[in-house]
Amino acid sequence: MPQELPDERAIRRRAADAGQEHVFRFWGDLPEEGRRRLLAQLAEVDFEELAELIDQHVTHRRPPELPPDLEPAPFIPLPTTDAERSRRARMRQLGEELLAAGKAAPMVVAGGQGTRLGFEGPKGAFPIGPVSGLTLFEIFAEAIHAARRAYGASIPWYIMTSRANDLATRDFLEAHNYFDLPRADVKCFMQGMMPAVDLEGKLILSARDQLAWSPDGHGGSIRALARTGMLADMAARGIEHISYFQVDNPLVPPLDPVFIGHHADAASDMSSKMARKREPKERIGAFCLSGGRLHVIEYSDLPDALAEARDPDGRLRFEAGSIAIHILSRAFVERLSAGRRFALPFHRAEKRIPCIDDRGRPVNPARPNGIKFETFVFDALPMAENPVVLEIDRAVEFSPVKNADAQDTPTTARHDMLMLHAGWLEKAGVAVPRRPDGEPRFWVEINPRAARNVEELKALVARRGIRKVTRDLYLA
Ligand code: UTP
Repeated sequence: MPQELPDERAIRRRAADAGQEHVFRFWGDLPEEGRRRLLAQLAEVDFEELAELIDQHVTHRRPPELPPDLEPAPFIPLPTTDAERSRRARMRQLGEELLAAGKAAPMVVAGGQGTRLGFEGPKGAFPIGPVSGLTLFEIFAEAIHAARRAYGASIPWYIMTSRANDLATRDFLEAHNYFDLPRADVKCFMQGMMPAVDLEGKLILSARDQLAWSPDGHGGSIRALARTGMLADMAARGIEHISYFQVDNPLVPPLDPVFIGHHADAASDMSSKMARKREPKERIGAFCLSGGRLHVIEYSDLPDALAEARDPDGRLRFEAGSIAIHILSRAFVERLSAGRRFALPFHRAEKRIPCIDDRGRPVNPARPNGIKFETFVFDALPMAENPVVLEIDRAVEFSPVKNADAQDTPTTARHDMLMLHAGWLEKAGVAVPRRPDGEPRFWVEINPRAARNVEELKALVARRGIRKVTRDLYLA
């Protein structure tokens, strides 16, 4: 008889009580090391939470109920009047003051598996700069350098990873010397993982001694910030506002003073940027109100009648699309993460999950064979007081890299960067030769450390005496 491993009996009992004893089916073949690994993984499973999730999402398949009486959410539109422009200027000033006082910091969520893009390595290491080849992480780092310089503050950068890519991300940052940011100001932290189950609710083994895990969704950032000590780190630094963005959007301004100003001015717990939907069925969530609370309803959940409803002037009623850019107040995240139970609901996602068959041979399924449990950060919105929704111009701030081809690809993102930067150059008085179809004849790219907007670009082109683009141009 092999010697009993630590906790084996208790863990076996918990697994059996939860109807998951099949995870021990290769126990007899496992060497001591494998047994330890399996037990360590099972010790991490919250069987109580898992049982509830299986009951809700597998046994009874009760999808989360759509909030009742949905109305379009109000938002602050892009300024068109003098009054709106001067309000925006005031908000910018407030945001800049908060940035200079070191009260805001960027946080990128980069724990996803990026399966659709199919890039080997963390998505942040994907080269996206159309001329420079800068990676997504580098572009954000350059924008943070620009903000540190502009506001004279030592702004830390929080990067959420997951077990799936934490080491690779840290290695990448290390290999690039943290893009010359102070080492102590680049803080990686890991989100939680959830075990995946098959379509009958049984834990999936990805190897004989290994459960199949997946990151707990971008909403996992809320509990990870608390669990990993990042909230305490922020508190010690005096950071009150967390500027949240996703790793896949090269256009995002990691710290937007106008947005920070609006958020702080409204005493908002959680603020969001929105873009007008391009079409009723565009695959982005819609900002809605229900019972006075703000919600993002996923495109797949928004009833057709609402998605297609139009105002008398022809505009979509539910036009406010969520682009996954938020500001979270630190105090709000503290509140959400204080309870024993996680405040955000889990959603069910059917996926193809590599696993093993009855004989322990690896299988790469062709069709979805299992369920991952994920939380979404926007599910915190109904709990937020005074939430602000701010309209942005998507051509300026949003072009995600999601897929290898078709929509939201590296090609579309590079093209959007090109069009934006070419337009900025023209507004700054630089001639950009264009083809008859409007496409610039040359590639142009502006590093955010060189200029983050047209005003900064005007100063730069004046200093460098740039009048015309005559070949591919990278302004750094
Ligand atoms: P996506 O929903 O695009 O998922 O994430 P993904 O995992 O990156 O990509 P696919 O679906 O496998 O192709 C949106 C953002 O949320 C982050 C991602 O890193 C990305 O910045 N995210 C997602 C996390 O940080 N953790 C998660 O568990 C899920």
